Amino acid sequence: MLNKILPLSLALISALPTWASTIEDVPAGEDAATQQIVRLIEDGVRAEAKHGKAHRDAHAKAHGCVKAEFRVLPQLPDEVKFGIFKEPRTFLAWIRYSNGSGKIQDDTEGDARGMAIKLKGVEHSKSGTQDWVMINHPVFFVRNAADYVEFQKALATDSPLKFFFPSFNPFDFRLHELGIVNAIKNKTVANPLDAQYWSMTPYRLGDTAMKFSAHPCSAASQYSETTAPNFLRDNMQKQLTQGEACFDFMVQLQRVVAEMPLEDPTLEWREEDSPFIRVAKITIPAQTFTAPEQLAFCENLSFTPWHAMPEHQPLGGINRVRKTVYDTVSQVRHELNGEAHHEPTGF
Ligand code: HEM
Repeated sequence: MLNKILPLSLALISALPTWASTIEDVPAGEDAATQQIVRLIEDGVRAEAKHGKAHRDAHAKAHGCVKAEFRVLPQLPDEVKFGIFKEPRTFLAWIRYSNGSGKIQDDTEGDARGMAIKLKGVEHSKSGTQDWVMINHPVFFVRNAADYVEFQKALATDSPLKFFFPSFNPFDFRLHELGIVNAIKNKTVANPLDAQYWSMTPYRLGDTAMKFSAHPCSAASQYSETTAPNFLRDNMQKQLTQGEACFDFMVQLQRVVAEMPLEDPTLEWREEDSPFIRVAKITIPAQTFTAPEQLAFCENLSFTPWHAMPEHQPLGGINRVRKTVYDTVSQVRHELNGEAHHEPTGF
């Protein structure tokens, strides 16, 4: 009997990592925490808008939106051929580069830098687009929805340090999270086209989970002045006046489930456990993106991880929070600014 059960159990165990990998673990109280986050963020956006235009609660300052081409490479391995990567194809895309802060501040302030890509003409996605939203660091600094409530409360009282040191008890300190924020703030980026960006959070890739990243493939820009208030936009425009830029788009598969969690984006999926696989090439042709009407268009775009094909459904608690937050904030800022919200069709 035992020699019949044993091989069967071993076969089942060896099958686990594949189908266990996209199974999420939703903690009790996550919905309530999400509602609280939405309320706090919406209140913040409405309060700010009393002094002028309504902005994004995060990544408020855009360096610009550029036109791009996203070319899915031929002859990809079968394990990545899902959704967008199913077959070689070229998508037209908008890319918005941004600073992480909710305040519009000088680029000389240490901050995260964002790269949000919107592929157009995507079938089987409700928005008709596939958005890839990234920051220039591999890990996020908040583990889950409950912690994000604490972070948001600390921000609302203008004392973000409270999130990292909530009491005098050293066991409550969030030193790991503080280390991530410091690493992000201390990065020097002279030109958004020269930085590497990561999804930080996981997504579906068919039956498994992935993270993704964009790595520059053009030579580093010669424009690297870093003292002007908007040097990131200035340097990017100078480079794109002179010629094109490019990025390799790569995915990282969740190969070791225990080491590559879905529910804690503060933990890096190590490249030793699963190297990135190049799946697409992004080309940003030479262009001018700084005309006032294009900057206004850029401001009105809405990127969210949930503009996605089902094959790339966002995974994990932080992504589940983002579903309601991004939709609400986008709707509120469009409404306050008297702007209609629609996904871009043309270039
Ligand atoms: C619970 C966690 C998070 C919350 C509450 C949050 C909140 C927001 C909000 C409200 C916006 C503006 C949405 C809009 O008005 O259109 C935004 C934009 C953005 N977020 Fe997050 N975010 C979270 C996590 C993350 C993570 C993990 C990343 C990592 C990639 C990220 C990257 C970005 C970027 C790049 C943008 C700018 C998108 C654009 O260019 O329009 N966020 N976030």
